[in-house]
Amino acid sequence: MAKTRILRFPTGFLWGTATSSHQYEGDNTNNQWYRWEQQGRIRTGEVSGKAANWWERAEEDFARAEQMGHNALRLSLEWSRIEPAEGRRDAAAIDRYRAMLADLRQRGLKPIVTLHHFTEPLWFADRGGFENEENVRFFVRYVSHAVENLRDLCDFWVTINEPNVYVSEGYVVGAYPPGKSDLRSARRVLHNLMQAHVEAFCAIRRLQPAAWIGYCQDYRLFDPALPFSPLDRALSWLYETGFTWSPLQLVERGRFAFPLALLMPPISRAGGARDYHGINYYTREMLGFSVTSHTEGFIRRFPHPASVYHDGRANPNDVEEIYPEGIYRVVKAIHRRTRGNKPLYITENGVRDAADSRRPQALLEHLVWLHRAISEGVPVRGYLHWTLLDDFEWMDGWHTHLGLCAMDRATGQRTPRPSALLLAEISRANAITADMVERYSPRLMERIF
Ligand code: BGC
Repeated sequence: MAKTRILRFPTGFLWGTATSSHQYEGDNTNNQWYRWEQQGRIRTGEVSGKAANWWERAEEDFARAEQMGHNALRLSLEWSRIEPAEGRRDAAAIDRYRAMLADLRQRGLKPIVTLHHFTEPLWFADRGGFENEENVRFFVRYVSHAVENLRDLCDFWVTINEPNVYVSEGYVVGAYPPGKSDLRSARRVLHNLMQAHVEAFCAIRRLQPAAWIGYCQDYRLFDPALPFSPLDRALSWLYETGFTWSPLQLVERGRFAFPLALLMPPISRAGGARDYHGINYYTREMLGFSVTSHTEGFIRRFPHPASVYHDGRANPNDVEEIYPEGIYRVVKAIHRRTRGNKPLYITENGVRDAADSRRPQALLEHLVWLHRAISEGVPVRGYLHWTLLDDFEWMDGWHTHLGLCAMDRATGQRTPRPSALLLAEISRANAITADMVERYSPRLMERIF
């Protein structure tokens, strides 16, 4: 039987990129990340500054995304602009977002809007942020205000970006503000964040019954260093359950997964509080016990050596694995764990690669694996690449390059990388052709076509 020469994606599939306010807008001086930068807490000593200057010229990049054949774009609202002081709303900020969303729509780009992407106003952080359960109501009040004012322009909401990363980086590792390493706080914050998601979900549902509402999460895989070692297997199970599957189980069944369920009470109305699964997938880590790693609690975490690369960050030890099959494993696992009850969207996936020497192949291979999951019945409805331009990458400042387009920070000049052209080809065709595979991943040719 002749093999098919084209991998088609479902009709109406969303193609585009994901971005966030602090990483793109510039001059967001009223949030806790700005303060963190001013305190010299970014590894490279850099600051977000003007970022990609979207507050003034986002539309030029929206035009770029349109020219690339995309039909969706994910951005976030900056709470600290909309509510600069507790209870004080800035109508001009809402007007600016209205202009941005209207521009996207008019270009045929579906806006996907995140309400919290790592940043929050200083006044909120100074009241204890999400460590304080009392503060959840401020978040829900801001969300309601934003949705009331933007619902005629957007019907696809992401309440919170990566609660698991926000908690682990801010309250366990201490690399993100507020820079704590305190498991009790981490537990509280994860609980309150998920509570905030559930309450925001209910508030949006009331205000806009037909909206699509969900949150997105970093779905990281953890595999045992020695597949046959019961200790390594138990360890990776523990990490993956705690980091990756626990919040998902909460919005499925109303309670966190074991063993987190022993430490955190259930959340009422949490079961079913999402219309889709928002998936950020980047990589996997290997885990094993090691007697020599006593400073790390005898645990060794490392990227799989088969396709490891230095990812361009300032620290030479920052290496990561490009693991395209992981996207297949993640969407299959979510589909299985949730008994296939909701559609899935890849809300982020990307590669740090200034030279763009690995990204085109990685992009293609992730999409081939995603297509395989779709052909096996997993209802994936969209793919958003992180990200459109080189952006301010939190702790790594401007030293790492995830953009489909390079951005010269001195001149603001944007230059599409080869992977931008590849994603444009794929989105226009709504398919991957044999010719693309031949060009970017000859090793897959035999297996697919
Ligand atoms: C975040 C993005 C970030 C990306 C790449 C994700 O964890 O949501 O804001 O830039 O990873 O580092």
